[in-house]
Amino acid sequence: MNLNGFYPIDYSKKDLPEIGIGVLGYGFMGQTHSNAFIKIPFTCAHPAAKPILIALAGRTSQKVEYTARRFGYQGYYLDWKLLAQDPRIDIFDNCTPDDQHFLPSMVAMENGKHVICEKPLTLKLDEAKQMVRKARETGVKTMCCYNYRFLPAVRLARQLIEQGVLGKIYHFRAKYLQQAGHDPNTPLEKVWYAHGTCSGTLLGIGCHILDMARFLVGEVTALSGLKKTFIPSRKNLNGEIFPVSTDEGTIALLEFNNGAIGTLESSGVCTGRKNQQGWEINGSKGSLVFDLEDLNHLQIYTTEGPISTIQGFSNVSVTDPIHPLQAVYLPSGHNQGWEYGHVNALHHFIDCVLNHKPVEPYGATFEDGYQVQILIEAINLSAKTGKRVEIKDFYD
Ligand SMILES: NC(=O)c1ccc[n+]([C@@H]2O[C@H](COP(=O)([O-])OP(=O)(O)OC[C@H]3O[C@@H](n4cnc5c(N)ncnc54)[C@H](O)[C@@H]3O)[C@@H](O)[C@H]2O)c1
Repeated sequence: MNLNGFYPIDYSKKDLPEIGIGVLGYGFMGQTHSNAFIKIPFTCAHPAAKPILIALAGRTSQKVEYTARRFGYQGYYLDWKLLAQDPRIDIFDNCTPDDQHFLPSMVAMENGKHVICEKPLTLKLDEAKQMVRKARETGVKTMCCYNYRFLPAVRLARQLIEQGVLGKIYHFRAKYLQQAGHDPNTPLEKVWYAHGTCSGTLLGIGCHILDMARFLVGEVTALSGLKKTFIPSRKNLNGEIFPVSTDEGTIALLEFNNGAIGTLESSGVCTGRKNQQGWEINGSKGSLVFDLEDLNHLQIYTTEGPISTIQGFSNVSVTDPIHPLQAVYLPSGHNQGWEYGHVNALHHFIDCVLNHKPVEPYGATFEDGYQVQILIEAINLSAKTGKRVEIKDFYD
């Protein structure tokens, strides 16, 4: 073989700090996070570190090994407690279903790991509270994976609001719509919100827009909620009939600490809607509109500055180097995809861990996850009692 003119690279020389990653769960999110960790050194122009995929954990050896090999993990565990104890792991990333978030995250924090946990933080408010306490006691960094905060268009919205471009905010109007259960004949196993953890649409997707409300507008002080199950029973794949009691649609009215009001709608029966998260914010000096199905754009209307003479919305392609979270190799106008929200979120967390930066305000900590959980509980209570609920009543 003629290798004239070939310069071999010495990989023993480390250009970047390294950080050990352990991921629990190899399903949709386990794979999404693994993909994001791998992408960080390739897509971020100045990565904080090179994530080293130490181990993946799950219960079924063939499946865990298959996924671990695909993503290049050094190995795998069949017991998450061993993952949580592995001294090579700095960040424990919990990508299990909603009802498994509590215990592994608590044990990982007790073992001194920095912990990422998928949303919603827990199914039970009391568990969320314990997770916040444990994070404080152990001093580890935490992030609840509210990944939509890390889309460039969302971060531009936050920047514009912080700069006062919208003036006084009057309205927040948000929806998160999917169609999984719109057909009563769809088998139970195919309707994510009514199967498995039976989380319902408020916990499953509504939590994202509750987080968005807090991220962009402010704290919610009171709310009213309405929850609905349209199809009270479904057949499973074997034809057996099961009752469905989780919400298939939720509507809430929100009152914010800064005088703004909001509406929120989550649904799993919106025929034709695959994954439409959208929101609009109206202020005294401007408005913003975002649609996840067109995630690289933010529609902006402002009554001030040169752009105001247009007297219409500008549809801004949020892909320019001057825009937030654009430290990737892609030039202007080259769109990021949905998975970049996770790339940006996980890179942020790694940067915070390595460089002792706070995860908040851009990342959602376990405290933020807990605050969203309070709002979910408040909507549940309001829907049950038919009464408006004050959020202060949820604090000790
Ligand atoms: N942020 C987002 O964009 C987003 C999107 C979808 C789902 N989620 C959330 O991510 C979490 C995971 O969802 P998913 O869609 O990846 O689910 P999934 O069913 O595809 O994967 C869950 C994984 O956890 C494993 N698991 C379950 N119980 C376990 C246990 N006791 N011990 C070890 N492993 C166990 C399963 O085997 C599977 O590998 C959920 O909390 C969900 O709400 C977040």
